Order: sequence, then structure tokens, then C-alpha cells
Amino acid sequence: MEQEAIKTFFSTELLGWYRLIKRDLPWRKNRDPYRVWVSEIMLQQTRVDTVIPYYNQFMDKFPSVTALANAPETEVLKSWEGLGYYSRARNLQAGAKEVAQRYGGIVPDDKAAVAGLKGVGPYTSGAIMSIAFNRPEPAVDGNVMRVLSRYFCLEDDIAKPSTRIGIEKLAASLIPEGAAGDFNQALMELGALVCTPKSPSCLPCPVMEHCAARLSGRETELPIKTKAKPPRAEFRAAAIVAGSGEHADKVLVRQRPATGLLAQMWELPHLELPKDKAEWLSEASPKEQGELAEMISRMVETDTGLLIRPRSWFTDADHIFSHIHWKMRFYLADLGEERSASEDVAAAASSLIGLTAAEAASAYKVDSQAEEAEVIGTYRWISKSDMETLPFPNLFLRILKQYWE
Ligand code: ADE
Repeated sequence: MEQEAIKTFFSTELLGWYRLIKRDLPWRKNRDPYRVWVSEIMLQQTRVDTVIPYYNQFMDKFPSVTALANAPETEVLKSWEGLGYYSRARNLQAGAKEVAQRYGGIVPDDKAAVAGLKGVGPYTSGAIMSIAFNRPEPAVDGNVMRVLSRYFCLEDDIAKPSTRIGIEKLAASLIPEGAAGDFNQALMELGALVCTPKSPSCLPCPVMEHCAARLSGRETELPIKTKAKPPRAEFRAAAIVAGSGEHADKVLVRQRPATGLLAQMWELPHLELPKDKAEWLSEASPKEQGELAEMISRMVETDTGLLIRPRSWFTDADHIFSHIHWKMRFYLADLGEERSASEDVAAAASSLIGLTAAEAASAYKVDSQAEEAEVIGTYRWISKSDMETLPFPNLFLRILKQYWE
């Protein structure tokens, strides 16, 4: 069969299949570009089943571009809590503000304008232009690269930008006249339901007959993708500081800075251990445990003026971002009495490791070279019910829920 016929077969069969079997997903109710935009941002790096409840509550809360543009950022982050990659939410709101100000709250039917919105890359602009406006633009993500690499038996490394550009050209050439939105979603649907990464279900595949990878028995070898570097490990120690007196039943939390990782989200106070101290989280001598307790106390004191005393181990937990792997240890801490630094350290060490205060005091000398305090966010005492309004990353949500149980 000629290459052109193989392409036509693919487009026709795939479109027909999609129109018969497509899933009834909430963002497919209509072609409102705002709804499509929100769905495509949420679906980045996130499974459809996970997205559905978030999407429904987000659309209830922020039903239009202007509603989103005018909402307090904390509310937007709170609605995103648990979905991860929070810069998506902040960029989406920044984009909504731009559409509200520049285009009167209507997402423009204009590729350059859409592609210029914050957080909208080539995939998302292609998805919005095709699904909402039926413009013949390709929308190529990892799923689509997998499907096309297999059908056409392409051996280029899909981690390379040049491969993506080649596949975008190919995808554009496959779009059937007048059916860009359905065709692009058909490609996504095939990648999600049939042409899956590990064990593709070729038998029910509508285009199996001319799939070059399948015909040469290479469907599980393709696509070729060089492995990304594993995320860099960071060892972190955190304190769950229990309040007393007017702050009884409360815990000390802080807000992260306005930019960077997990910007503006709330968290338990923590610090990164110097690289040469990483093993402290697996095995530490009494002296080292005392030093660690002191580092945490000093950070909180520098940031807030509060004297705290790490008392006991609470739990260990990991949090993996795309490029960083936090390995964290959580300590329970009390508010200490006013006392001199060395007394406090000795007390901290003794309570943490079960030495007498005198033993700890002799085992430990205050290190005058203080670790530089991490960037100070805003600290706050919160009660369990405040968790309903402040946005926390999953890791801290989990730990705080465990703590309050
Ligand atoms: N993944 C990315 N975009 C999607 C869409 N519109 N429908 C289903 N899955 C998707």
C-alpha cells in the first residue's frame, strides 16, 4: 500500500472508531474554549480518572475566565490541592487574567494569542485550537508520539525536541478535513485506551492492520526514549511544633515564597541538610542528632523568635517532584522555655536521644557557624480546621492528617 493510502487509512479508521466509542468525559460536554483549556492543563502529567473530580469542582467554583481571573490565588491553589505541579494552577490563573484584561474574558480564536498565554505550550495551544475551534493544529504529547512512532515505525528518540517537531508535522498532515478536534482527541483516546505504553492491546485497535510496528513485531520496543536523569535527592528535616497556651491544639506552619517550587503553598517548617550530613537521616550519633535538633530549632528561632525543642521522631516520608526527590524526616517538637542556646541544645539532644541533660551537654558544643536560614515565608499557628482553607502539598497534608489523628 502507498504511504498516502496508509495515512488516509489511519485517519479515517481512527476518527470513525473515536466517534463510536469515545468516553463521556466532563470536558467533552461542549466546546467552550475555557473548559477545554482548564481540562488540558489539568490533564498534563495527570490521569483522566484523577482529573475528573478536580475538574468538576473547579468548573463549579470558577465557571468562567473572569471568575478564575478574579479569585484569590489561595482559593485556586486550594482547588488544585493534591493534583501536584502547582505552577499549572498559577499559570492558568495568570492566563485567565490576561484573557480577562486583553480579550474581555473571551478566549480568542487566534493561535498566536492562545499560544502566548502563560502556561500554554505547543501541545496545549494545539489542543485548544483544535478541540474548541476545530482549527487544523496538531496536539502532540507523549501519548500521541507513542501512537505515531508505532504506526509509522519511527525510531527517533522522542525525548529530542527535533523528533517532536517532526511528529507534529506528521500529525498535522493526518488531520481529516473539518475534524481536527475529534481527530486529535481520537489520537489521545487511542493512546490512553489501546496503544498503551507497556502492553498495547493490538487486537481491538482500529488501525492494527497497517501498523508498521505491529507488522514487524516491534510494538513494545517503540517508541525509543532516552531516560531522563533521576531526580536529585535532598535530605530534609522538619518539625511539627505543637502550640501551647493560646496556641493549644495548633501547629506551626509557614507559607512558601511567591516564586519557585510549590510557590505560595503552606508547609511544615523544614530545612535541607548539607550534602555531607545526609546520612544523619539514616544513622546519626547522639551528638549528630543533637546537632540536627539544634539546626531545626535555630531555623525556627531565626525566622520567628520562638524557641522550640525537637522531642521525638514522628515519621519519614518522601516527596518526588520531576527533578527533586525530598527524603524527609519529621520530628515532634514542643515550644521550649526561654533559655540560653547551649542549654536548649543540650535539652533538645537529651530529649531526642534519651541521654541525661548533663551527658548531652558534654556530648555537644554549640556550632557557632549557623546554617544560613532558608527563605522565610510567613509563619502561622493553625488548627485542624484551617487545613480546609490553606493549600498544602500532598506530603504535608498526609503528615498533618496523621498527626491530628
Ligand atoms: N489527555 C489530554 N487531553 C485529553 C482529552 N481532551 N481527553 C482525554 N484525554 C486527554
